[in-house]
Amino acid sequence: MTLYDEEFSARRRLTLRGHASAPGGTRTAQPVHATHAVRSEQDLLSVRHAVRAATVEAGFALVDQTRIVTAASELARNAYVHGGGGSLTIEVLGHGPRRGVRLTVRDQGPGIPDVDKALTDGWTTGSGLGHGLGGARRLMHEFTIDTAVDRGTTVTAIRWNDR
Ligand SMILES: Nc1ncnc2c1ncn2[C@@H]1O[C@H](COP(=O)(O)OP(=O)(O)OP(=O)(O)O)[C@@H](O)[C@H]1O
Ligand SMILES: [Mg+2]
Repeated sequence: MTLYDEEFSARRRLTLRGHASAPGGTRTAQPVHATHAVRSEQDLLSVRHAVRAATVEAGFALVDQTRIVTAASELARNAYVHGGGGSLTIEVLGHGPRRGVRLTVRDQGPGIPDVDKALTDGWTTGSGLGHGLGGARRLMHEFTIDTAVDRGTTVTAIRWNDR
């Protein structure tokens, strides 16, 4: 799927939702707050679409939309691959001109014993490149990892539109 396809389907869903939620036909702003399962490859794809739609709703330009979708994709894939599956919550923050998107990715997997190492580019316990977590942090403005061995991992990340 190309970036254009994704963008197009994000816009189409927003349009449909606008019609469905506005009896008078006028599109009303709808705060996004949704939790998605991250338990399959298909879920990873759905999550990308949902995050794209939220970034459009929050008014981000295309390059920032893609930054946020990429971060979400890396975090969701980590929850799926390393955490045994989990969830992603998407929230649109703020009012008026200052808007943001918050991603909260949770799993109840093995946890991350050494967060500094996990954030180091090239460090991996799997077969990836070891760039996902550090890359996601660089793409977002606020980034918190809450993890405990055998209890799971929650990563919270925000990007704002005014920085
Ligand atoms: N949710 C998680 N649960 C447990 N361990 C994790 C989690 N997320 C990351 N890690 C650990 O941190 C390491 C680094 O993660 P990172 O996303 O940077 O690289 P990767 O997933 O191994 O490869 P890729 O470049 O494909 O993302 C992982 O190899 C894994 O050991
Ligand atoms: Mg990864």
